[in-house]
Parts: sequence; C-alpha cells; structure tokens
Amino acid sequence: QATLKEAAASRGLRVGNAMAHAPDRFGNAAYRALTARQCGVIVCENETKWQALQPRPGAYDFAAADAMFAWAGREGLQRRGHTLVWQPGKWLPAWIESHDFGARPAAGAERLLATHIRTVTEHFGRDVYSWDVVNEAVDPADGALRANAFTRRLGAIDQIDLCFRLARTHAPHAQLVYNDYMRGDAGSAKHRAGVLKLLEALKAKGTPVDAVGLQSHIGSWDDVRDGKDAGREWRRFLDAVTGMGYRLLITEFDVNDRELPGDIARRDAGVAALAKDYLDLTLSYPQVTDFVMWGMADHVSWLRTWDEAPRKDGLTMRGTPYDEALRPKPLFDAILAALRAM
Ligand code: G3I
Repeated sequence: QATLKEAAASRGLRVGNAMAHAPDRFGNAAYRALTARQCGVIVCENETKWQALQPRPGAYDFAAADAMFAWAGREGLQRRGHTLVWQPGKWLPAWIESHDFGARPAAGAERLLATHIRTVTEHFGRDVYSWDVVNEAVDPADGALRANAFTRRLGAIDQIDLCFRLARTHAPHAQLVYNDYMRGDAGSAKHRAGVLKLLEALKAKGTPVDAVGLQSHIGSWDDVRDGKDAGREWRRFLDAVTGMGYRLLITEFDVNDRELPGDIARRDAGVAALAKDYLDLTLSYPQVTDFVMWGMADHVSWLRTWDEAPRKDGLTMRGTPYDEALRPKPLFDAILAALRAM
C-alpha cells in the first residue's frame, strides 16, 4: 500500500509527524510503527520546548526527547526541533518571568538565552536538521511583536535576531526556521501583515532565518478554494515570503472540524476536501520542503484537548488522517493525493 513518504519523495518533500512522550503515542508500538512507515521525520510535540528541557534554572532534562530521538535514529527518521524560544510569555516557563536578570538586565537576558540555546543545540548536535528557533512572535490581534521577559530587556526585534544568531553559531549545520500560524482560527490579516513586517525587518538586519514554518492548523473558516478571498490572501502571503527568498515548511498540519456537520461520513469528507484544497495551493510553491502533521490519529490530537473552541454539539474532533483504531480516513487519501500531484 502506498505511503505518504513515498508519495512525497517523488517530489522531493519530507513527511513528518509530531510525536509525544505519552503512553498512547511514543508508548504505543502500533502508533510508533505507523509513524515510521508513513514518515521520514519526527518532531517532539512538547518535549523539546523550553519548559520541558529546562523546567528550572540550570536544570536540564533531556530524557524524554532523547528517548524519542534515539528511536527515530534507529528507524532512520530525521529529526526536527521545536522550539528553542516560544515567544509569548505564557509559553515560557514561569521562572523566566520572575528571574533576576542582575544589575545589567540586557546582559543577563542575553546570557540566559545564549546558555539555553547553546546547551540545547549542542546536546542534539547534528541529529536535528532543522530548528524552529522562534515560535509565534506576532500577536494576531494587531500584528505587533509580542512581549516577554526577554523582549522587555533586549527589544523584540533584537531579541529575535539574537536567537537566530545564537542558533546559527551553535548549530551551523541546521536549517533555522521562524514558525507561526498566520491562518486558521487565531490567524488574521493583521497577523500575516505583522509576520511579513517581521520577516522584512529580519532580512534587513541580516538575521540568519532560512525558512518560514507554516503551522497549518486549518479549518473551514479559511477555505482557500480558487476564487475565495482566503485563497487569494494566502497566495499573496506566500508570494511575499518566497519573494524575500525564504524557504517554506508545513510544520503542524491538522484540520479543525468545528464548523463541519456532526455526521461522520459528511464530516470526514469535508475535512478531506479542506485539506486537499489547502495542500494543492500551498504545495504548489516549490519552496516547500517539509510536510509535518501535528499528530496522525484523532485520539492523540491536541484538538481534542484544546477547550477554547470546542464543537458546539460536544462531539470530538476528527482532524487527523487516522481514527482511534489507526484506520486511515478520507483525510489520508486527500493528503496522499495532494502529495502526489505535481
Ligand atoms: O503532561 C502534563 C500532565 O502531566 C498534566 O497532568 C496535564 C494537566 O494539564 O498537563 C500535561 O501537559 C500538557 C501537555 O500538552 C501534554 O499533554 C500541557 O498542560 C498542555 O499545555 C500541553 O499542550 C501542548 C501545547 O502546545 C502547549 O505546549 C499541546 O500538547 C501541543 O500540541 C501544543 O502544540 C502547539 C505548538 O507547540 C505550537 N503551535 C500550536 C500548537 C497547538 O497548540
């Protein structure tokens, strides 16, 4: 039976999945085998975030990520890193917010960032071919750069620039990615404009950003079919990003089915159609090098635990290519078809 990675290889694309150190994911042999069969890449869903790797000042814990990456190595999977700095303060460990940055706070903030980025990138070394260096720096409400304990000491642009330079110094082999959502539920035109402004500013500074990660948590509210505004807008965004010379990755693909009918057959067909339209458009850019899913089976998807915008009918979401029994759904076929299409 055809696999996603074979289909993608025919056009030079990598396929990946986000794996989590949980009993029903990394702890489940069938789910691991499915990932290894369909994918050539894994990324840790949470285990390489700052909270996980340095939960307390100076106390590093690489155990979960090492276990997953060691398995990936044995299976011949490549590894992506997510994420050195997740920009909104709420996604950094709480201790950073109250950290004493010393008499020269800018120098103290720089030291803390440098130590984390150096320790983490050197720990994984050449095992990680691509790093999300900075994640979600732009506020979708107004397109402005978000604030955190580092930006308040260093200035937002200078702090982002510094993160990339540190990553380049300590992981010179790795592709360096700016990762954000831009579309979907929380994205907006202001968000996309803000990301473009950020990318232009980084270009002007000579910041070593190689690629832009398009998270791609898509949904029916931004249907990109030809002739629809969302599609035109998305093309304009991708044209602008590629026009600046950046490569692209789809880094966190899934489909939010919140506004699709409850009936499973209709819902699964709707999810598949949204995915096909989105992937046909986005993968038409030859700059896209990676297609990474944010979980491959419905019961492991973050969409099921994220309670900010649940389905009104109380049904659970079906936004990934496999069901709870690891049987492929219409979304699998849609992805396969999109990866194959030239
Ligand atoms: O592991 C603990 C568990 O011990 C505890 O009992 C439980 C109680 O809340 O929390 C568990 O941790 C949760 C963790 O997921 C593992 O399930 C965290 O609370 C929860 O915040 C965390 O959510 C993750 C979220 O990022 C925040 O880190 C999601 O799994 C993960 O899918 C999501 O991924 C993000 C990307 O990193 C960035 N882009 C958006 C994407 C989706 O939100």
